[in-house]
Amino acid sequence: MIQLIDLDSLEKTCQLAEKIASQVDIGDVIALSGELGAGKTYFTQCFCKHLGVSEYVSSPSYILLNEYMGKFPIAHFDLYRLDSLDEVLETGLPDFIEQRITVIEWYEIARDLLPKNTIFLDFELTETKRLVKLSTSRNLMI
Ligand SMILES: Nc1ncnc2c1ncn2[C@@H]1O[C@H](COP(=O)(O)OP(=O)(O)OP(=O)(O)O)[C@@H](O)[C@H]1O
Ligand SMILES: [Mg+2]
Repeated sequence: MIQLIDLDSLEKTCQLAEKIASQVDIGDVIALSGELGAGKTYFTQCFCKHLGVSEYVSSPSYILLNEYMGKFPIAHFDLYRLDSLDEVLETGLPDFIEQRITVIEWYEIARDLLPKNTIFLDFELTETKRLVKLSTSRNLMI
């Protein structure tokens, strides 16, 4: 499915995060793209909250990876600073994907490592609008 969704408020982003969070399990990947400030981390904060994470979810831009424990263990990657697939492999991403729910900001460089049923969210930010394109081979209820 491919769906274009208006995200004209923070609440809209959180509603989307909640719907997706209620349909995920270990092994699932949520892959996020979009320019700086497009809303990837905010989505992840809501997503983790709905999975019962009580601690503050911060941007892992500098440290590559944060881990959280809620209803499931969650790995939150930000690959912005990486330049090659080898560097991505050094992070152990494939093992995390097997054992966690994995959210990846700036996923593009890791595309070849992502499972077939990955949920892709491509955020778009213009002067007047925030949108996200959701694409996945799964049948999500949105
Ligand atoms: N749907 C929305 N409506 C209004 N503001 C939003 C929305 N989503 C996110 N924001 C705001 O936009 C700002 C940037 O969001 P965020 O940090 O999530 O971006 P990002 O895509 O993770 O950026 P980066 O690439 O730098 O990590 C935050 O202040 C956030 O509150
Ligand atoms: Mg971010």
